[in-house]
Amino acid sequence: MLEVAELQVAYGDAPALRGVTLRIGAGELVTVVGPNGAGKTTLVNTIARLLPVRGGRLVLDGEDATALDARQMCDRGVAVIPEGRRLFGTMTVEENLEIGCYRRDARPHRDQGIERVYALFPRLRERRRQQAGTLSGGEQQMAAIGRALMARPRLLLIDEPSLGLAPAIVDIVFDAIQRIHAEGVSILLIEQNAARALAVAGRGYVMEDGRIVAEGPAAQLRAEPHVREAYLGETGEK
Ligand SMILES: Nc1ncnc2c1ncn2[C@@H]1O[C@H](COP(=O)(O)OP(=O)(O)O)[C@@H](O)[C@H]1O
Ligand SMILES: [Mg+2]
Repeated sequence: MLEVAELQVAYGDAPALRGVTLRIGAGELVTVVGPNGAGKTTLVNTIARLLPVRGGRLVLDGEDATALDARQMCDRGVAVIPEGRRLFGTMTVEENLEIGCYRRDARPHRDQGIERVYALFPRLRERRRQQAGTLSGGEQQMAAIGRALMARPRLLLIDEPSLGLAPAIVDIVFDAIQRIHAEGVSILLIEQNAARALAVAGRGYVMEDGRIVAEGPAAQLRAEPHVREAYLGETGEK
């Protein structure tokens, strides 16, 4: 569905992606894990066509997507749940959801989309008239996921959904991600919480300093000594 080939992105003179190659097949849940500053958010924002490409290519459904803009990517069914949620704080939950519905193909399905989101997160139905800025962090993450779903994406890019959330809320968020995946949506999940991400993903990539340093089936990555020591907090002794 999406291929990223030798992607290079820089902020001014500072390279952030130094030739990243990865793919997400239709129906896959793929994770990219790695430390702070590795380039994960840069990768997501570049796929969403929010950052210019210095080198390499993006290919969506077999067609070159490098020259597309953010709106065109959205129209082709690619939606982003950005790091830090980025809701409109003074608008209500439901108004924030409606913003996700601006894609032309999604507009006629507005009511169905809202119901899908409230079925996934009953708590948002209770809070639907509440200003998004007054929600808890977990509820804001639910609203951000809901807003992206309103665009009826085929590919969802999720950047650090568990950041700053209590463990019980992280469970709710990961459960929702798995349910969305089970509905047939392809997912690229970016996480610093490698243990959780590798537990739900089929395949994964490890990114360090703008490069992919390891890749493979999630179960295989979980067993790799470097991944266990650097990302799963395990010593080699077990
Ligand atoms: N807007 C920006 N301007 C300049 N440098 C940036 C900007 N955003 C990120 N960077 C730099 O690019 C690198 C990758 O950052 P980022 O993609 O946010 O990593 P991650 O999401 O893995 O933490 C880091 O060195 C970071 O400091
Ligand atoms: Mg990031």
